[in-house]
Amino acid sequence: MAKVPNFILNPYFCIRNAIVNMTIKKPTVLSGIRPTGYLHLGNYFGAVRNFVRMQDDFNCYFFIADIHSLTTHPIPTDLESSVKQVLAEYLACGIDPEKATIYIQSDVPEVTELYTILNMNAYLGELERTASFKDKARKQPDNVNAGLLTYPVLMAADIIIHKANFVPVGKDQEQNLEMARKFARRFNRMYHKKVFPTPKPFTFDGKDMIKIPGLDGSGKMGKSEGNAINLYEEPAAIRKKVMKAVTDGGPTVMNQEKPVAIQNLFFLMEIVSEPSTIEHFNSLYNNCQIRYGDLKKQLAEDIISYTSPIRERIIEILKDNNYLAKVARLGAEKARESASKTLNEVKEVVGFRRLF
Ligand code: TYM
Repeated sequence: MAKVPNFILNPYFCIRNAIVNMTIKKPTVLSGIRPTGYLHLGNYFGAVRNFVRMQDDFNCYFFIADIHSLTTHPIPTDLESSVKQVLAEYLACGIDPEKATIYIQSDVPEVTELYTILNMNAYLGELERTASFKDKARKQPDNVNAGLLTYPVLMAADIIIHKANFVPVGKDQEQNLEMARKFARRFNRMYHKKVFPTPKPFTFDGKDMIKIPGLDGSGKMGKSEGNAINLYEEPAAIRKKVMKAVTDGGPTVMNQEKPVAIQNLFFLMEIVSEPSTIEHFNSLYNNCQIRYGDLKKQLAEDIISYTSPIRERIIEILKDNNYLAKVARLGAEKARESASKTLNEVKEVVGFRRLF
C-alpha cells in the first residue's frame, strides 16, 4: 500500500483542505432543451447564452431532453436527427464539453429511476392544475398521455438528480421549476433528511427570467407557435420572416406608447443591435417619422450578423459524427457518475437498503 504522507494525517492540514475544498466547490447548475426542432432565438437568449456564460464559474450539466419530447410522439428518425442537431447547436453556441457536462437524457437511466420514485409523492390534483399540462391537453386533445401529466416530475428528477442549485431557463419554465422546488422540499420533509437543495431559477444581474417574443405580435417565440427565427436559419429566410413581422399603421402622436407588436420588434433589437441603432429608431418612432420597413431591414441584418457565425459552426460540427459521439459518450459517463451517487442516497433514504 502506498505510504500516506505525514501532512495528510496532520489534523491542521485535514481541516485546511476541507475548508479549501468547501470554498472552491462550485454551485451546481442544470438545464435542458427538448429536441423538438432547431433552436431558435428564444432558446438562445432565454437559455443557451446563459449556459455558455455560466460554464466557467459553475459545475454545469446541460442536457437534451429526449424523453420529454416523447410526449408528442415524434417520428423516431426525426427524433434521432433532432438530438444530433441540438447537440451540434449546443457546441456551436459555445458550450465547451471540457467545462460543462453535456449529455442526452435517455443515456442516464438513473433519471427515470428517480422519476419513478418521485412520482409516488406527486399528486394528481397539483399535476392537473399546472398551466403547461392544461395548455398541452387543449392543444393535443387526442393525446393527453400520462407523460404529459407527470412532465414536471421528470423535470424535477432531471434537476435534483445532480442536486442542482441553479436552473437557467426562460420565463415559460417558471411554473415547472416551482414544481421541482416543491418536489425537492417535499422529499426532504417526508424522509426527514435534506437530500436535495431547493433549486433556484438563475438569471444574470438579478434580472427577471426573460421571454423572447415572436414576430407575430403576440406571445412568446416558440417552435410550435410557428413564429420563430432559428439559429440555423439561412439569411434569406431570416429577412423574409422579419419583413413579414406584424406592425401597425405607425405612431400618430409624438412619444406615443408602443403597441405590443412594435414593442416586440424593439425588444428583439435590444438583444441583437447596437445601442446607437436602437436610439436612432426610438427617436424616429417618438417623432412619428419611423418607417417600419427600415426598422425591419435593420433588425434582420443585425439578427443575421448575430446568428451567421453560429450557423457556420453548426454546419461544421454536424459533419463530424465521431466528435459528436465522443461528446455524448463522455457526457453520459460524467452525468451517470453524479446521478448514481444521488440515486444511491435516495434508495437508502426511502428504504431500498438490503439488510440481508
Ligand atoms: P424547451 O425545450 O421548451 O425550451 C428550452 C429552453 O428555452 C427557453 N425558451 C425561451 N426563453 C425565452 N423566450 C422564449 N420565447 C423561449 N422559448 C423557449 C425555455 O424557457 C427553456 O429554458 N421542460 C423544458 C426542458 C427541460 C428542462 C429540464 C429545463 C426538461 N427538463 C430541467 C430545465 C431543467 C422545455 O420544454 O424547454
